[in-house]
Order: sequence, then C-alpha cells, then structure tokens
Amino acid sequence: MLRKIRREACCIIILLIKYISFASTMKLRNFCYRYALKSMGDSNITDGVTIVHPGKVSIGNRVSIHPYTYIRGEITIGNYVAIATRCSFIAESHNFAEVTTPIKLQGIEDQPISIGNDVWIGAHSIILGNVTIGDGAIIGAGSVVTKSIASYSVAMGVPARVVYNRKNSRDLHEKNKQ
Ligand SMILES: CC(C)(COP(=O)(O)OP(=O)(O)OC[C@H]1O[C@@H](n2cnc3c(N)ncnc32)[C@H](O)[C@@H]1OP(=O)(O)O)[C@@H](O)C(=O)NCCC(=O)NCCS
Repeated sequence: MLRKIRREACCIIILLIKYISFASTMKLRNFCYRYALKSMGDSNITDGVTIVHPGKVSIGNRVSIHPYTYIRGEITIGNYVAIATRCSFIAESHNFAEVTTPIKLQGIEDQPISIGNDVWIGAHSIILGNVTIGDGAIIGAGSVVTKSIASYSVAMGVPARVVYNRKNSRDLHEKNKQ
C-alpha cells in the first residue's frame, strides 16, 4: 500500500517537472523514476520523456534517455545504453484482424521490447514491438526497427537493415563504400 502511494506521488512529481531541464530537477526526476518504474539503476532520464506505463519499464545503470523520447508498453533496457532525442519505443500493437469492428475496439496486444547492454540508438528512431536489440548494437538516426538486431550490428534505415557488424565486418563495410 505504502509502495503504491509512493509510486503515485513520484509519478505526479515527474509530471510536474517533466519539461524542466535544470540539473537539480534532473536529480529529483531520476530519484522519482527509481520508485515509479519497475526498476531503475543509476541512470538519467532527461526532460520531456514520456513513459506511458512506468510499472512495465526496467532500466539498468548508466542509461541516458534524451529529450522527447516516448516509451509505451513493456520494455527492458540494459546498462550503458544511449538513447538519443525523440526516439519511440512502441511495445504494444492494436489488433486489427476484423474489418467490421473499429480498430480501436479490437484490443491491444503486448509486444515487449528488450534492449541489451552498450547499445546506442540514434535520434528519431522508432523501435517497434517484439524487437530485441543485442549488446553493443548501434541503430542509425531515423531508423524504423521492425525486427530483432543481433549483437554488435550497426543497423540503419527504414526498415532498419544491418550494414555491418562492429566485431568483424568493418572492413567489408569500408570496401562496400569504395
Ligand atoms: C549509424 C551511424 C553511427 C553510422 O556511422 P558510420 O558507420 O560511420 O556510417 P557512415 O557515415 O560511414 O555511412 C555509411 C553509409 O550509411 C549511410 N547512413 C549513415 N547513417 C545513416 C542513417 N542514420 N540512416 C540511413 N543511412 C545512413 C550513409 O549515407 C552511408 O551511405 P553510402 O555508403 O551509400 O554513402 C551514424 O550514421 C548515425 O546515424 N549516428 C547516430 C547519430 C545520432 O543520432 N546522434 C544522437 C546524439 S547521441
């Protein structure tokens, strides 16, 4: 009961200071997020970030989530993850099988997203549901990620395609550029 009240109070404080970017406000916001989210380590959620279902979100240590990112549904984020400005994580989808019923009335399906450790997600990227992004992967700015991305891959574009792997294919990537 006490936990629930604390979580609600933290959510209200987060709402009140959502768009304030001062360093002191950041500290208070991150403190509140630690109680509002399912779990959160020593990480930094900046101003203007929207987390629709805080109780479904787990964030590790040394994660930074930059302004105006939007997170909806169940998402797990590892450690040392950099999420640039205006990314979207959409971990749920409308059902739309019926054409005679409005889509809005057909219910919503959970489609969890998982982000590994040491991942960098470029600005304005969209990560769709049921996607796992492996450790060390990079997602180029403006990508739409519709499928899981293997560890250490560098993926970009709409839909995002893997262009090379940081561990073993940098040379191939360089060759392709010539
Ligand atoms: C993904 C990224 C890291 C790739 O870096 P890189 O490996 O050095 O790639 P290059 O700049 O050599 O580009 C390689 C090719 O991919 C293309 N490309 C690069 N980034 C792209 C992107 N985001 N979307 C689509 N294509 C992209 C380039 O045009 C180039 O194409 P070409 O071979 O036909 O000329 C970088 O382009 C990027 O998007 N960084 C994110 C920046 C960001 O959002 N920062 C936020 C602040 S933290």
